[in-house]
Amino acid sequence: RHPGWPVRLGPLQVRAGTVELRGPRLFDGGKWSRLRIRDRAYLEQWEPTAQEGWEERNAAMSWPAQWSSLRGMARRGTSLPFMILVDGEVAGQITVGNIVRGSLLSAWIGYWVAADRAGGGVATAAVALLTDHAFREAGLHRLEATVRPENGPSIRVLTKSGYREEGLFKRYLDVAGQWRDHLCFALTTEEIPDGLVSRLVARGEARLP
Ligand code: ACO
Repeated sequence: RHPGWPVRLGPLQVRAGTVELRGPRLFDGGKWSRLRIRDRAYLEQWEPTAQEGWEERNAAMSWPAQWSSLRGMARRGTSLPFMILVDGEVAGQITVGNIVRGSLLSAWIGYWVAADRAGGGVATAAVALLTDHAFREAGLHRLEATVRPENGPSIRVLTKSGYREEGLFKRYLDVAGQWRDHLCFALTTEEIPDGLVSRLVARGEARLP
């Protein structure tokens, strides 16, 4: 059995609204596709290159296969995939992926937030909720986030959340058609004994409703 799945995380109130995380559902396809097609210019520069074009990969018709694959990985315990809800509406995704257990107990974390909900603390709240869950219920020890050095907003989310910069991975990931350098940020459980959510609340950057 996969510890920490299925689960609903939050709510947590930030400037942009009330943030909650829940597993992906089959009926999320329409909304997911509308956001991804609308926000192509803002998302594509940071996302792994795919064989099919953006429109095809993000069409509502391609959601059932993605949903089923995410659900399969969640059930097998290799991933914790969530939809980010703001005021009850799908507004992005956050995923802990490539979970390796044994003496590593490690995984990566990645996210996107719809352009019209960005800049209001949504990603920071989602990272806090999922980091705490991954370290506590799911029993992980280390989370790693890789980000392009050009991605100012995402680097800000990670540094605000206490993720440390560990180094530069050269030609690490095929993003927007080329092998791109990525900064590696990481966090281990020892660094946040009280968790990220409680720290956000203590700093006045989020409220528990
Ligand atoms: N340079 C530096 N900081 C910036 C910039 C910039 N150009 N633009 C905005 N910021 C700051 C904001 O002011 C804010 O910081 P503040 O709260 O101190 O003012 C911070 O960046 C953003 O924090 P949030 O509001 O919590 O984040 P948001 O909900 O806007 O989501 C995200 C950020 C997810 C990066 C969003 O912009 C997005 O989806 N971008 C496209 C996809 C993407 O880049 N995903 C991340 C890939 S890397 C990874 O997954 C590890």
